[in-house]
Amino acid sequence: MSYETILTETRGRVLLITLNRPKALNAINRQLTAELIDAATRADADPGIGCIVVTGSERAFAAGADVKEMQAASYADMFAGDRFADWERFTALRTPVIAAVAGFALGGGCELAMMCDFILAADTAQFGQPEIKLGIMPGIGGSQRLTRFVGKSKAMEMCLTGRTMDAAEAERAGLVSRVVPAAELAAEAMKAAETIAAMSLPIAMMTKEAVNRAYETTLTEGVRFERRVFHAMFATEDQKEGMAAFVEKRPPRFSNR
Ligand code: CAA
Repeated sequence: MSYETILTETRGRVLLITLNRPKALNAINRQLTAELIDAATRADADPGIGCIVVTGSERAFAAGADVKEMQAASYADMFAGDRFADWERFTALRTPVIAAVAGFALGGGCELAMMCDFILAADTAQFGQPEIKLGIMPGIGGSQRLTRFVGKSKAMEMCLTGRTMDAAEAERAGLVSRVVPAAELAAEAMKAAETIAAMSLPIAMMTKEAVNRAYETTLTEGVRFERRVFHAMFATEDQKEGMAAFVEKRPPRFSNR
C-alpha cells in the first residue's frame, strides 16, 4: 500500500515510520491515523519485523491532532465516528514500538509518543497537552497516560495550564527513557530498535505484555501474571537457545519459536 502522510522504510528487522506532513508540523489527521495504524499493524503481523520506530521531523514529532480537521465537527460527528477509538489498534500492537521524538510533541503528538513502548527524546523535544487553550482536553489518552507517567501534580498542571516541558524535565519526570543530542536521535533510535529486534520476538512480545500489565492491574495480580508468563517461556526454543548460548559462551541464534 502506498502512503501519503507517512514514509516507511524497512531496515533489516526494523520498520521505520516517519510522519510526513511537514507543512502542518505532522498534525495528526484521519488519513495519517489510518496510514500509521495500517503500516504498524502490517508490521505487527510480519515475523520479519522485530521492532517499529515512529519518528517525525527535526522540528516536530507531531503538533497534535489536526485542529483544522476537527474545528467544525459536531458532537454527533465525534460520537458517531467514535473519533480516536482507532488508536486502540495501535496500543494493541504486540511488536515493540519506540517513539523517537524531536521538536514538538504536543496534544495528540504527545499522546502518540506515550502510546509507544518508550520514548527516546532529542534535546530539542518539547512535550505538552495544550488542548485546554483550544477549549478542549486531551482525547487520545493524554489525561490518563501522562498522569501515570509523571504523576498527578505535574500532569494536572500541564493539562490545566497547557504549558510544555522540555526534554530535560521530561527525563526527570520519567516521561522519556533517555535524552540524546538531536543530531544523534535517529542513530540512537535505530541502535535501540536493532538491539530489540535481535532478541527473540515472542519473548519480547511477552515482556512488553507483562510490563504493560503493570498499568492495568494490582501488584499481586501483576506479579502472578509475570510468573505465569515466565513459566511459559520455558516452552520456547529461544529460552533453550538463549541459555545454551550463555553456557557455551557464544552469541545466541534466536529462531523466534
Ligand atoms: N493542527 C493543524 N495544523 C497545525 C497544528 C495542528 N495541531 N499545529 C500546527 N499546525 C500548522 C499551523 O496551522 C501552520 O499552518 P499554516 O502555515 O497553514 O498556518 C503550520 O502548522 C506551522 O505552524 P505555526 O505557524 O503555528 O508554527 P510555529 O512555529 O509558530 O508554532 C506550534 C508551532 C507552537 C506547535 C503551534 O503550531 C501550535 O501551537 N500548534 C497547535 C498545538 C496544539 O494545540 N495541539 C493540540 C491539538 S488538539 C489535540 O491534539 C486533541 C487531542 O488530544 C486528540
